Amino acid sequence: MRAVDLIRKKRDGKELTTEEIQFLIKGYTSGEIPDYQMSALAMAIYFQGMTKRETADLTMAMVNSGDQVDLSSIKGTKVDKHSTGGVGDTTTLVLAPLVASCGAPVAKMSGRGLGHTGGTLDKLESIEGFRVSLNSEEFVKNVNEIGVAVVSQTGNLVPADKKLYSLRDVTATVRSIPLIASSIMSKKLAAGANAIVLDVKTGSGAFMTEYEDAKKLAREMVDIGNNLGRKTVAVLTDMDQPLGFAVGNALEVREAIDTLKGEGPDDLYELCLTLGSYMLVLANVVTSSEEGRKKLEESIRTGKALKKLKEMVAAQDGNPEVIDNPDLLPKAKKVVELKAEKSGYVQKIVAIDVGLSAMLLGAGRETKDSQIDLAVGVVLKKKVGDEVKAGEALAELHVNDEKRLNDALSLLKNAFTISDEKPKGKPLIYEVIQ
Ligand code: URA
Ligand code: CA
Repeated sequence: MRAVDLIRKKRDGKELTTEEIQFLIKGYTSGEIPDYQMSALAMAIYFQGMTKRETADLTMAMVNSGDQVDLSSIKGTKVDKHSTGGVGDTTTLVLAPLVASCGAPVAKMSGRGLGHTGGTLDKLESIEGFRVSLNSEEFVKNVNEIGVAVVSQTGNLVPADKKLYSLRDVTATVRSIPLIASSIMSKKLAAGANAIVLDVKTGSGAFMTEYEDAKKLAREMVDIGNNLGRKTVAVLTDMDQPLGFAVGNALEVREAIDTLKGEGPDDLYELCLTLGSYMLVLANVVTSSEEGRKKLEESIRTGKALKKLKEMVAAQDGNPEVIDNPDLLPKAKKVVELKAEKSGYVQKIVAIDVGLSAMLLGAGRETKDSQIDLAVGVVLKKKVGDEVKAGEALAELHVNDEKRLNDALSLLKNAFTISDEKPKGKPLIYEVIQ
């Protein structure tokens, strides 16, 4: 087999066989197939697409390029959750303990933040002592004993995707549905879950801004999962404005604690209940999402969910007192308000700009190696549809380094649009694809 013949085949719109796809991914991972040939192939896929069979084969070839996490020594059906990324998306901090408190084991590997999106591991590290790098024995032991662990990746998972994703980034081939779907699903499959709930976001703050594209991506990922024997459900959700109020590490931990007490923002609560109810269905804990929802609500009401977070924090060497007393979380030196210049209704809040503003304050990384400041970030005081009076606060900036304040403030100011008319409400949850 020669790579050039397979590139030509795809360029001409023909279907690659399983063996051909395996040959390409193996060769690329080992370095035998160079970047320039893989770039040409990615561009051919970009224009010609892939059949469902090819996409599933590509996903499996990528999974097989590295280690796979073995969760078989954890009892029960392990359900993972994945979000296509947003701003201030605090869901994992809420969902992991919430779903575990209802009896579904959560063995979750999470990542760090980059650019305008945050990462669950960074957020958890704002809890004093919290350890995200457990070895596999500790990981399995914690999930078997208390039902939940959220850790950094162990092993060398999907090296083919690391290489291919960086290559796509600089060859204008990121936005291809089979390439995105296989990239995301290969990482989820390698992480070992039996079932997967996907939160596919659409809107200005989402990776897939257009609704129809997001829906196609969701369909593709659900089909890959189901074709490969992992039950998969996708929920299409809105990401036009940030989720909840808080954007920033310690600020989001506080928001997650509030939400687990039933005192958090409505949108975050609603999204967690929806995603969580499908996680319980896929874990065979309940037989319908309605039943799942009731169970989750009860766990919040009785305090079981919050208690589970405390157990998880203690089991990963974090200070559990933080859960009862969030004032122990790192705090910024100064809180500056962004005030509305005129009265009206909040028409729009551009999520990416809020994320970038928080990043400028130090909450996120500009590059992979940037240091972050766990205390800083943005807390929205108004969301889309809220009425606001001139001079009232639209948001707070939690600041340590004042040199960054002016840039962050002007970015945040431009993120808001205030108008005279109340905007029409938009749904948060659009559709469930299974
Ligand atoms: N996120 C991923 O992990 N992969 C893609 O290809 C796009 C977004
Ligand atoms: Ca949030």
